[in-house]
Amino acid sequence: MPVITLHDLFMQELQDLHSAESQIIEALPKMIEMADDEKLQAALEDHLEATQQHLDRLNEIDAMFGFLGSEKICEGMRGIIQDGERTLTEITDAATRDAAIIAAGQKVEHYEIAGYGTAAAYAKQLNHDEAGDLLKKTLDEEKKTDSDLSSLAEGNLLATGLNEMAAEE
Ligand SMILES: [Fe+2]
Ligand SMILES: [Fe+2]
Repeated sequence: MPVITLHDLFMQELQDLHSAESQIIEALPKMIEMADDEKLQAALEDHLEATQQHLDRLNEIDAMFGFLGSEKICEGMRGIIQDGERTLTEITDAATRDAAIIAAGQKVEHYEIAGYGTAAAYAKQLNHDEAGDLLKKTLDEEKKTDSDLSSLAEGNLLATGLNEMAAEE
C-alpha cells in the first residue's frame, strides 16, 4: 500500500502493531516457561492475556478501516524478539536469565509504547475518536507493564537473587 496521506501512515502503523502483537502472543509463552521468579511469571502471564486484548482492539479498529488487507510483518518486533531469545538461550543461571527476560520485555514494551503513542496521535489528528480511545487504552496498559517490569527489576526478588549469586562467587 503506498503511503501518501496521514491516513495511509495511520493504516501502516496499525498493520505494524497488529503484526507486533501477533508475534508477542507467540513469543510470550516461551518467556513464561523460561522465567524462574514467580512474580515475573505472573506478570508475563497477565500480559499475555492483555496482549490478546490488544490484538482484539486492533481487530475492532480493522473493522472500522480494513487496514489488514495487506498485512506486513513487523520487522522491528521480529528483531527485538529474536535478539532476546538468542540471549536467553545462552544464559544458564536462573536469576540472570530473569534479568534478561525483563530487559527483553521492556524493549518489547518500549517499541509498543512508541507505536501506540504514534497511532493514538494520528487518530486524534484524523478525528477518529473511537479508534483513538482504543489505542490510548492499550498505550496505558503497555506503559503500566513497562513500569511493573521496572519495579520487578529494581525490587527485592531479582536483586536478592542476583546478590545471592554475586555472594557465591
Ligand atoms: Fe500490546
Ligand atoms: Fe505489551
